Amino acid sequence: MPIQPLAPIPELFVSYESALKLKNEAADLPSWDMTPRQICDLELLMNGGFSPLKGFLTEEDYTSVVETMRLADGTLWPMPITLDVSQGFADGIEPGQDIALRDQEGVILAILSVGDKYTPDKAREAEMVFGADDIAHPAVNYLHNVAGPVYLGGAITGIQPPVHYDFRARRDTPNELRAYFRKLGWRRVVAFQTRNPLHRAHQELTFRAAKEAQANLLIHPVVGMTKPGDIDHFTRVRCYEAVLDQYPSATTTMSLLNLAMRMAGPREAVWHGLIRKNHGCSHFIVGRDHAGPGKNSQGEDFYGPYDAQDLFKEYADEIGIEMVPFKHMVFVQERAEYQPADEVAEDSTVLNISGTELRRRLAEGLEIPDWFSFPAVVAELRRTRPPRSQQGFTVFFTGLSGSGKSTIANAMMVKLMEMGGRPVTLLDGDVVRKHLSSELGFSKEHRDINIRRIGYVASEITKNGGIAICAPIAPYTATRRSVREMVEAYGAFVEVHVATSLEECERRDRKGLYKLAREGKIKEFTGISDPYEAPEAAELVVDTEGTEVDFCAQQVLLKLESMGLIAG
Ligand code: PPS
Repeated sequence: MPIQPLAPIPELFVSYESALKLKNEAADLPSWDMTPRQICDLELLMNGGFSPLKGFLTEEDYTSVVETMRLADGTLWPMPITLDVSQGFADGIEPGQDIALRDQEGVILAILSVGDKYTPDKAREAEMVFGADDIAHPAVNYLHNVAGPVYLGGAITGIQPPVHYDFRARRDTPNELRAYFRKLGWRRVVAFQTRNPLHRAHQELTFRAAKEAQANLLIHPVVGMTKPGDIDHFTRVRCYEAVLDQYPSATTTMSLLNLAMRMAGPREAVWHGLIRKNHGCSHFIVGRDHAGPGKNSQGEDFYGPYDAQDLFKEYADEIGIEMVPFKHMVFVQERAEYQPADEVAEDSTVLNISGTELRRRLAEGLEIPDWFSFPAVVAELRRTRPPRSQQGFTVFFTGLSGSGKSTIANAMMVKLMEMGGRPVTLLDGDVVRKHLSSELGFSKEHRDINIRRIGYVASEITKNGGIAICAPIAPYTATRRSVREMVEAYGAFVEVHVATSLEECERRDRKGLYKLAREGKIKEFTGISDPYEAPEAAELVVDTEGTEVDFCAQQVLLKLESMGLIAG
């Protein structure tokens, strides 16, 4: 395969003077405040990372990408890059119009010349792009529960790149990397994509891959959006910096990629290849289960372990980058070194620590041996991931009105305060509605806003090492899931379903509300005239019928203990 000549790649930015002028004019345009994921996509559209795309996909290109992995003109492109908006916003926009795209602080980053607006068939997109319409897949969940219902397609005029204040010196556009490779005379460059910290096995495998390909090495971690629950990119970049010393600086470099991953396995691998080619690389490491999303709702893997490698191989010529298959490296005790698993002599002792085992050891403050990782990396991980008994967490009670959530939550709060060590905050349904959500009613939209507010506050408390106890009704599964994702970025989320039956809640009718609801005097009352979707995978289910509050609170405490969240 010919090695890419490193000519600059086309960007979508206008000149500095035009950008100043456009920015002024754009102030009067209708504007869309972009989501974090859209901002990641826009950055790579504008700087050429997504070349040859010139903007967000129009319906023709979108349908073609979904169905055939190609743009309408036949060019290989596996991932729909779309601008999803709300129905209300879409209703006010007509094709032919320009809109300003703003970041979350309101800074205008680009102009979109709206080519068309269309309502996608999301179930079809999920089936074709992610392999199943199953919300256990993070991108399918995003598609159905976060993304807006209408897509706007059209060309982008770039005004300025999104601003990053972190690790600036480590972020490079495709053209900056190309220029760097040109300057150093690097013609063969193998890229390593990652969303996890690097340990010794990764260092060995990347180093070997570069040696085998006789290429320089680009460590190219994703810092945009990765899989919910991943280690945050700040910690990871500090870990990468610690590992970088282990490589010869004359042959290896690291750059951060502000990509929003979709965890689409095979299609994602092809997409990653195209992105790395745009960044001036000639080779790309594809591992086992590349960009895998984990298990589906039947508990099975979404993709086969080598599907990504197979699809990449099929398209390697068109991608214009050579695949270096990832070698599974294992530590061989007798030799005190890493070797590819398929080269290990028969009766050797192979040591391995899985990702799950590593998380367990970190969570419980146990030893992580030197053969597994570098002391500086472990120290960094321990700094952000102290043992679970010192981390913040959230207990989220959900259940019908009158089920006993508040009573158990109050008992829990007192017991946890008695134990001491971490500050405890109770976000009870009624209290939240008084202090945070006093303007909200009980429509689905308002309930969702209310729960997201609780989730946001709980995630901040968790992040800062405290304990948040929440006790709203929270009747919708998707909203509870999004709160879980917010919290799990920082600590454990313990969902407790207070499963007292409707009959029992109505019999108790402590606030007299069920009576009023039956008489139609309160509308949209949960359980009577509004839905309650019971959790299917709560960490704990408690039933208060015939059980004392103290016993229920004990069950929760025991659960927290078994999860390592409270220790003696
Ligand atoms: S939600 O759905 O999670 O936003 O509801 P939440 O904020 O937890 O509700 C708090 C209390 O509001 C009272 N109430 C109602 N509940 C359900 N449906 C309707 N229409 C309604 N109107 C008022 C009810 O007493 C809830 O209190 P709890 O603590 O659950 O008994």
